[in-house]
Amino acid sequence: MELPPRPTLFDFHGVSMTKYFTDNWVNIQSFKARPDDIVLVSYPKAGNTWVSYILDLLYFGKTSPNRQNSVPLHERVPFLEISIPGFPSGVDELNSLNIFPRIIKTHLPVQFLPQSFWEQNSKIIYVARNAKDSAVSYFHFDRMNKAQPEPGDWGSYLQRFMDGKMVFGSWYDHVEGWWEKRKTSSNILYLFYEDLIEDTEREISRLCSFLELSPCADLKKEVTEKSNFNNMKHDKMANGSADEVFDFKISPFMRKGKVGDWKNHFTVKQDEEFNEDYERKMKNTDLLFRMVL
Ligand code: A3P
Repeated sequence: MELPPRPTLFDFHGVSMTKYFTDNWVNIQSFKARPDDIVLVSYPKAGNTWVSYILDLLYFGKTSPNRQNSVPLHERVPFLEISIPGFPSGVDELNSLNIFPRIIKTHLPVQFLPQSFWEQNSKIIYVARNAKDSAVSYFHFDRMNKAQPEPGDWGSYLQRFMDGKMVFGSWYDHVEGWWEKRKTSSNILYLFYEDLIEDTEREISRLCSFLELSPCADLKKEVTEKSNFNNMKHDKMANGSADEVFDFKISPFMRKGKVGDWKNHFTVKQDEEFNEDYERKMKNTDLLFRMVL
């Protein structure tokens, strides 16, 4: 299928977005959540695919093992706000999903989450990743994803990241907005990519207690093993190879899966400027990230 030209960014209620995530806005905002829905939220490139893979295995690994081998992950865990012509919208996919619970992917900043999720008290998992690795990962993703705006060179991209001129807006606002919300909402679990890398099994246990799941020790080990980077990279149903808008000749979707890859991209000057700006932007929050392990 011939793809249309790359979309452009525009300001959408104070957040930079593209039409692929706003065209279906009325249906997104009136989405009917269910109390047993599980919403998996993150700024782009924080490990959403990894955690959705883990959740899908925890809930359906034993009951419907064939799903994992035959249905691409993006259909098992639909992306709420996506709507690209020629493909089913996330809302339509979710409305026709007849499994329980529904695991729902979203990148929406906190103020955009459809009201119904709050009314239904659906469980929400937020995954955050440090700013520097997020910027690097997002840069390579935008290079290979033809449904994202043209990224340009790394230097100008990093500046736009600092300015919040990215699809889904400012990283700083996103991670802080959800962090603040979590302080008053017991239905939000806030996870860090760095913690998942450090000890995946421990974080799976945290997920299970939040979701009131009690898998046996063997299942937790199995999910930890199956969801590791190398296994996922070779899983055609999860590594993005089923996605027509990705150009793997430019970069893989499962790229490196590491903490600290930013060191291979940031110059000393970029790092100094970034740190100075970061301190200014993050000075009023108690949200702390690890940039290395
Ligand atoms: P890198 O580009 O740094 O490799 P998202 O799914 O939110 O788009 O995030 C993508 C990032 O998570 C990519 O980071 C990808 O490689 C990484 N990732 C995906 N699955 C992973 C896994 N099992 N272990 C570690 N990192 C993983």
